[in-house]
Amino acid sequence: METLYGRDLITTQDWSVDELIETMELAERFKKIMRGGKRPPKILERKNFFMVFYAPSTRTRGAFEAGMGLLGGHAPYIDVTTTRIRAGEALKDIAKMYDIYGDGIGVRILDDAIDFIYGEGRKVVEQFAEAARVPVINMACCTYHPTQAIGDIMTVKNKIGSLRGKKYVIMWAYSSKLRGRCSIHSEVLIATRFGMDVVLAHPPGFDIDPKIVEAAKTNARESGGSFKISHDFEEALKGANVVFPRSWVTSELLKVGATAFGADKEIEMYNNCRNWRLEQKHVNDLMGKPAIVTHVLPVFRGQEATNEVMDGPNSVIYEQAENNLYAKMAVLSLTMAEEPKL
Ligand code: CP
Repeated sequence: METLYGRDLITTQDWSVDELIETMELAERFKKIMRGGKRPPKILERKNFFMVFYAPSTRTRGAFEAGMGLLGGHAPYIDVTTTRIRAGEALKDIAKMYDIYGDGIGVRILDDAIDFIYGEGRKVVEQFAEAARVPVINMACCTYHPTQAIGDIMTVKNKIGSLRGKKYVIMWAYSSKLRGRCSIHSEVLIATRFGMDVVLAHPPGFDIDPKIVEAAKTNARESGGSFKISHDFEEALKGANVVFPRSWVTSELLKVGATAFGADKEIEMYNNCRNWRLEQKHVNDLMGKPAIVTHVLPVFRGQEATNEVMDGPNSVIYEQAENNLYAKMAVLSLTMAEEPKL
């Protein structure tokens, strides 16, 4: 297996299944250490991971920052509004600076930061990766959220055991806010790599990127899993072991951006789909056994899913967020430490 040291992570598709398993195994070891009340060795001591944020975050920033601290390193938080980026400094020059000062670079750019124009965020992450010699980690762009996906699939495996042949429903869910598709794409991509039977359920008009659909089908063929699209979430939920209820914007909006398309026009479409909300009766009456409810968070309570679901016995959202800390620590360790030994 090729070493992950020095490698970028723009999408989980860039890493082999064995490399993803290696990452999850290391994340599990961090979890065991931390849950045992101890702290991991300082394998990133005196290393810097520059976190370039064009877009806000509750978890991703917190987890990367805490993770670097726990591993003995430092994670400077770069809010782009406080830099020369918006004043027109060349992206290549910015990437070169943080490459010189640091040992890794994270970039987060999605949604409002790019007016929802599809492809604009990924382009920036790729430009950083091209200019920097140090590893560039995608902390969420318009298309992918790879570290989130690794923490999520680790959570699913923890909770339901073997992934092969288990049914994972990723369903569009009503919300009164606009959100991009990076987490949806990343879940579809990683779950189909691990032999799961993935169903993407959404009302007509909410198609995801056709390239992601093609990649998911290829992944499923190679892993022995499957990938289907449904326009009936209740039908899709029959026998499901995992459900992830989340809204995402239409392709029409992503083509021209939220300003040109009109946020109000988009939300008006959602109002016809208010019944796309996960309720405990769906979990109890339709899902198989075991059955878990996941969410990358933030979840729009009462809209995407009821409080009863999110706080209920099938919800794993807080452990999922916890695992995302360990997954990010594993990604940082494997890409930035020559020998990430515990
Ligand atoms: N899941 C996730 O990316 O959360 P934040 O937007 O809070 O970082």
